[in-house]
Amino acid sequence: MNSAHSMPRRTLLTASALLGLTAARAYGGDAQAARLYAEPPLRDIGKRVGIPYGLCETTSQFPANRGYYEQIAKECNIYVPSNEFNWKSIERTKGVRAYGKLDTIAQFMKERDVRLVGHTLLWYYAVPQWLTQMEAPSDITAAMEAYIHDVVSRFRGTVVRWDVINEQAGAGGEGNALRRTFYLDKLGPGYMKQAFAAARAADPNVLLCYNDFGFEYDKPDNKAKRAALLALLRQFRDDKVEVDCIGFQSHLDAGLQLDRDGLVKFAREVKQLGYKIAITELDVIDENLPADEQSRDHAVANHVKEYLACVGSEAKPVTVTSWGFTDGRTWLTMWHRRKDGRAMRPLPFDDQYNRKEQWAVIAQYLQSKL
Ligand code: XIL
Repeated sequence: MNSAHSMPRRTLLTASALLGLTAARAYGGDAQAARLYAEPPLRDIGKRVGIPYGLCETTSQFPANRGYYEQIAKECNIYVPSNEFNWKSIERTKGVRAYGKLDTIAQFMKERDVRLVGHTLLWYYAVPQWLTQMEAPSDITAAMEAYIHDVVSRFRGTVVRWDVINEQAGAGGEGNALRRTFYLDKLGPGYMKQAFAAARAADPNVLLCYNDFGFEYDKPDNKAKRAALLALLRQFRDDKVEVDCIGFQSHLDAGLQLDRDGLVKFAREVKQLGYKIAITELDVIDENLPADEQSRDHAVANHVKEYLACVGSEAKPVTVTSWGFTDGRTWLTMWHRRKDGRAMRPLPFDDQYNRKEQWAVIAQYLQSKL
C-alpha cells in the first residue's frame, strides 16, 4: 500500500489553493503526491458540498479482498456495483432472485457511511434469457414490475439513486429517436413509464434516473443522440413519466475536442425540461494521447475539467461518479488498447491508490459548487 495513506491528514491547503499549483504544471513527483494527500478525500468534499461522489467496481472480489473495498469506502459517498444489479445477474431463473453479495456489501458500505447506486433496472444488454422467450406483453410487464418492486424495495434506504432505464435513446436523429431493444419491440415506449412508476411505488424517496451516453462531441452521431434524448425527455414530460434525473454517462475521449457550446446548450435544455443531472460513469479514453504519463494525465484532467465546466455550469449535479476506481481495473480495455502497449490511465486513482491530476480536477469542481 502507498505510504501516503499513513500520512497524517493535514488540511494545509484547500483544494482550490492546491489547484492554483496545477496552473504551473506542478504535477508529478513525491511532493505533489504528498500535497494531494494532504487534501480531504472526495467523500468529505462531496458531503460538505451536497454532491455525493461515487466509485464503481464489481463486487467480485468481496469479501476476499476486503482491503480493496475498505479503500473504496474511504474515498467515496456512493458505491456502484458495476454489473451485479443488472436484471440478468439477479434473476437468472424466472422468479428466483438471488442478491448474492449485494446484501453484504450494502451492509459493509453502510457501516462506513457509503450508500449505493442501483445500476440498472432495465438495460437491453442485461435482459435475462428466460425473459426473451416470453411472448405475451402482459407477462413481460408483470415480470418487469415484480422484479422492480422486489429489488427497489429491498434496497430502500440503501440505494440513493436508481438508473431505471439505461440506453434507450437512439442515435438516428429526431425521426429515429429510440434504439431498437427487446423492451421497445415487445412493449412499445410505454414500458418506460411503467418502469418508473413501479420504481417510484417501491421507494418514494429515491432518485430515479434515465441514463445514457454519447453526446459530448461535435460528431453527427453525438448530435443525433442529443436530439433523440431531448425528444425522449419531452415525451417523458408530456406523458408525466416520473423521472427525476438524467444520467450523463460521461465516457469521454481526451483525443477529441468537446463540443462545448453544444454541451452547455444540451445541459441547459435538460434542466429547462425540469430534470436534474447526474454524472454517472465518468472515465476518459487516452488511447490517442502521447505516451508520457505526466502529460497524459494532464490532458485527461484538462478534458474532465472542461467537461465538468460545460455540463456542470448550468446546474449542480446530484451525483458525480467515476466508472472505476484504479486505472488498472478499467472496463475500457474491453474496447480500447493503446498502440504502444502502455496501460490506459482513465481514472482519478492509479494502481497504488495515488490520487492523480484528474482527482484534483474533480475536487476543485466539487468545491466550486459549495
Ligand atoms: C460495463 C461494465 O463496467 C463492465 O464490467 C461490463 O462488462 C460491461 O458494462 N455503460 C453502462 C455500463 O451503462 O453498465 C457499462 O458497464 C459501461 C457502459
